[in-house]
Amino acid sequence: MKFEFQNPTRLVFGAGSLARLGETVRAQGKRALLVTGGGSVKRTGVFDRAVASLKEAGVSVAECAGVEPNPRLSTVVRGARIARDNGCDVIVALGGGSTMDASKVMAAAVFYEGDPWDMIFHGQEKPRPPTRALPIVTVPTLAATGSEMNSGAVITDEKTTIKSFVRADCLYPRVALVDPELTMTVPPDQTAYGVCDLITHVTEGYLNGVDGTPLQDRWAEGTILTAIEWGPKAVANGRDVEARAQVQGASVVALNGWVQIATNAGFPVHTIEHTLSAHHDVAHGAGLAVVNPAWMRFAAKSRPARFAQFAERVFGVACRPGEEASCAREGIDRFEAFLRSIGCPTRLSQLEIGDDKLQQYARDALRIAHDQQGRLPGRPPMTEQDIVEVLRSAL
Ligand code: NZQ
Ligand code: ZN
Repeated sequence: MKFEFQNPTRLVFGAGSLARLGETVRAQGKRALLVTGGGSVKRTGVFDRAVASLKEAGVSVAECAGVEPNPRLSTVVRGARIARDNGCDVIVALGGGSTMDASKVMAAAVFYEGDPWDMIFHGQEKPRPPTRALPIVTVPTLAATGSEMNSGAVITDEKTTIKSFVRADCLYPRVALVDPELTMTVPPDQTAYGVCDLITHVTEGYLNGVDGTPLQDRWAEGTILTAIEWGPKAVANGRDVEARAQVQGASVVALNGWVQIATNAGFPVHTIEHTLSAHHDVAHGAGLAVVNPAWMRFAAKSRPARFAQFAERVFGVACRPGEEASCAREGIDRFEAFLRSIGCPTRLSQLEIGDDKLQQYARDALRIAHDQQGRLPGRPPMTEQDIVEVLRSAL
């Protein structure tokens, strides 16, 4: 095992940490752009508490409200303009993954020469990732994406219906202020989608990574088991702060880089899902709940022992030697049943997606990521037809 790891984001985790927002932001700047989503933080009173804390610490506030789920490029452009017009020197993202992602790209767009879409990896010959951004403080109100403590952001260009990501060191938030109490108002469906999202962040590395990663395997299994134990409790009772804290802790760890160390994995399930949420505006975690089990059934055929390990260690399936393939199938069935049990959709029809654009989704996915043979990176790499077949199996 050989690797380098650095995640420069300071993580402040715990119920009540919102009270520290003012002092935390004041250490980064004096004029904040406070970015929010479609209104949940206003309805819950979290917005007012955040503004009060900022003002008390001597931080003035400009606002960019209305970041939509699956955030759009035009919203990023709008936010960057507000930041520039108001001379903001720090960005505060108060919301779910969409708000945090949009905030990160706004922070970079303030300095970026040209069209901010050029910084997103969307199949262009020479992507131009950003090298400079305003300092960012993230305050997640939903446990799902891990965006609060990573250097990635996912944006949709509404003109071309392409949704893709940017990753750059300057996008690491300076501080992630993670207060599980803020997630207590997330409705059961979004809570379940978040659980699915965090599990899928881990299964991508676990099932697509290089061989010989026993330590990382255990971290991954621990994260998934935590989500399976506490996720249903958070769905059943949103006010269960302990369940909220465990789920949110798992969601941070699932995509802050640690669990994936040296796994060198592609993210095929995500790349495919992003085409669905780009075209149909479905919730990312709901799309993953459909794609992941379908992808697993495809991939297990070429890697049965790996999937048997997943079945055995995560779902307690008793695997006898020589029966890896059936054991793998049983594990995937149990995973899918778990997703259903917490209220996730597992068929495209539940997302009101039909079979008319399967080829288009496959082409869009390959445009974002492909190897030298034009296949989607992962284990195994997928051709356009493989992607179509996986989606067809989920209709
Ligand atoms: O917009 P508001 O009114 O805030 O409502 C949101 C939204 O409707 C609501 N919500 C959030 N916090 C709430 C709440 N409702 C009540 N109480 C609260 N405390 O939940 C809905 C969904 O919010 P959204 O931010 O879209 O969800 P999520 O956190 O799942 O983010 C999804 C986005 O992140 C991207 C996805 O592709 C998608 O665009 N991802 C970002 C990643 C990253 N940066 O590392 C990785 C992920 O794999 C993912 O691709
Ligand atoms: Zn995800």
